[in-house]
Amino acid sequence: MPERPIQQHSLFDTSIEAEGPIVPSRIPSTSPFHQPRALTEAQREKFRQMSRESREARRSALAGEGPAPIHEINLPNFHPLDLMPQRDGKGLTALSLFSGGGGLDLGVERAGFTHTASFEIMPEAGDTLRKARSDWAVFSGETDGDVRRVNFKQWRGDVDLLHGGPPCQPFSNAGRQKGHLDERDMWPQFVRAVKEIRPAAFIGENVPALASPKFSDYVSTSIMAPLSGSYHIQKIILQASDFGVPQVRRRVFFIGFRTKKLANAWSAPQPTHYWGDASIAGGERCMGLREALGLPDIGVDDLSPTIRSSLTGPRHTTSILNSVAAQRKFESLQIWPNGVAADRASARAFVAKNGHFRLSVPDVALIQGFPEDWPFVGATYMALGQIGNAVPPPLAYAVASSVLDVLSK
Ligand SMILES: C[S@@+](CC[C@H](N)C(=O)[O-])C[C@H]1O[C@@H](n2cnc3c(N)ncnc32)[C@H](O)[C@@H]1O
Repeated sequence: MPERPIQQHSLFDTSIEAEGPIVPSRIPSTSPFHQPRALTEAQREKFRQMSRESREARRSALAGEGPAPIHEINLPNFHPLDLMPQRDGKGLTALSLFSGGGGLDLGVERAGFTHTASFEIMPEAGDTLRKARSDWAVFSGETDGDVRRVNFKQWRGDVDLLHGGPPCQPFSNAGRQKGHLDERDMWPQFVRAVKEIRPAAFIGENVPALASPKFSDYVSTSIMAPLSGSYHIQKIILQASDFGVPQVRRRVFFIGFRTKKLANAWSAPQPTHYWGDASIAGGERCMGLREALGLPDIGVDDLSPTIRSSLTGPRHTTSILNSVAAQRKFESLQIWPNGVAADRASARAFVAKNGHFRLSVPDVALIQGFPEDWPFVGATYMALGQIGNAVPPPLAYAVASSVLDVLSK
């Protein structure tokens, strides 16, 4: 099928002229990240029109009124749980902050830790965790899940591993990079929790931009200085595809141990997988995106570009596109990354204008290294938001396993 030009008015479209005063968004959101764009009524109306058109196109496709489907329902080859054999942590416990839809939590659990409690402000993400693990103590929503309201001293001495990925928006290249000036900067809360609980170890995760020179003062002042008196802290940047996840996604981890003995015994996780020609001794080949999703061979495959969370931008969308470069990469892979469908049957029925393979929520979950049946709760953009915010579980597993190796000795 010949390729058609990409859809107009995409996420990166700047062609809509500003006319008149700025008006507030009418879209309600439970996401603490949502920072609507400053738009005029004319601009908002243009976006509303796009949404109406795309809703109508989806409705008619799902009612069988659209073009005939051209792709079979895919049967993935990638099974993330195979990358995370369940380990026995012999009763070692973990407490999770900023748990989101549970990427870090799942990796930590498979590495052998038992969760004492998980805290997450978004109600839908809390529901995801409860649905996935009915035996976890999940605290969610503004009253129970907001870490700012929690007195962590109640767990002092009772938690082996404290982990969390404070919101990355203050540091992300995709955001305004206001660091500690951003009211969403929750690192001070992570630091407070470490000081109040005094776990044997902690793992703090974030976007690699936090390890860039721009934020070196921030890291020294807000993370290292308050904790390095009582913890030995190491910082590592890891790539998800080095651990078998078919996506280019780098993340920084701050790993702290309360004693020097534990810190000296720790070694950073080593890559288990490679992509392309960069073969490593004893390593396995990471699947490309098409192979992972079980799509037919078109003679070209590659890792997925870094996917974005649909909650973090100024608009809640069902697109996982991060950049124009990502858009080109998906085009070369003949995959349509906008208007992600709730499930595979709907993705098949809603034929993309250029005939490329339309993604579904379970497909995007796989791209992020979640088992495809991880039960994300909420509308499609909400599920995609939880997925896009997550640490790929196999990457979390590698880091948590390296900590378990030390704590269980
Ligand atoms: C980067 S995401 C974490 C993703 C998670 N680590 C995972 O792997 O799935 C950050 C999370 O922090 C949550 N959050 C933001 N402010 C919070 C607060 N004050 N209390 C609790 N959670 C908060 C957000 O809703 C979001 O789900």
